[in-house]
Amino acid sequence: MEHVKLAAGELLLRPWRDEDAPAVRDALRDPAIAQWNPQGDGLIDDEVALLWVRRRADWSTGGHASMAVTAAADGELLGSVSLHNIRDGDASIGYWTVPAARGRHVALRAVVRLTDWAFADLGLHRVELCHAVANPASCRVAERAGYPAEGTLRESYRYGDGRRYDEHLHARLATDR
Ligand SMILES: CC(C)(COP(=O)(O)OP(=O)(O)OC[C@H]1O[C@@H](n2cnc3c(N)ncnc32)[C@H](O)[C@@H]1OP(=O)(O)O)[C@@H](O)C(=O)NCCC(=O)NCCS
Repeated sequence: MEHVKLAAGELLLRPWRDEDAPAVRDALRDPAIAQWNPQGDGLIDDEVALLWVRRRADWSTGGHASMAVTAAADGELLGSVSLHNIRDGDASIGYWTVPAARGRHVALRAVVRLTDWAFADLGLHRVELCHAVANPASCRVAERAGYPAEGTLRESYRYGDGRRYDEHLHARLATDR
């Protein structure tokens, strides 16, 4: 898959770059991100962050499209949004925002933009979004981004504290209004 950049008002979604690694290191150490977007048990150091960025910058398999969410004005890193498990018209979407960017609907706007692109340009039919029931901010993002809840998955994912949590499954179809 070819890299793209997606403008969304004050936001610019763009592929990850090596220079993002220090900001990613700091973001992945944020307790809320470490809990709800766990990256394994190890310490998040510069090397881990660089590998994280490089894996996400490589779109060559066609299996994911991972984007840095930045401020269009000055390039500040605000968050992450990604389509993964892209296969046969389906994908999953995930996201986080850095603490300083929260409270401005950055994740909502990024999810809407990436989903629109997934349907219009990638030709996907269904995108799924899962979050822990214990993470209501993420539920709000899902609902407002047009992903209705489809059900509760019982103790379906082990999050950052090592515990299994119930999750809500939300999904959006290309044919939804
Ligand atoms: C979830 C997350 C991505 C939302 O980021 P954001 O775009 O900055 O979201 P906002 O702070 O603008 O809040 C979005 C909505 O959630 C609501 N919200 C925020 N914190 C909340 C909380 N603790 N409980 C209930 N609702 C909450 C906000 O009021 C807002 O609601 P609104 O749309 O009705 O105005 C961000 O909090 C985050 O990165 N959290 C840690 C990692 C994470 O949870 N990732 C998602 C994994 S599925």
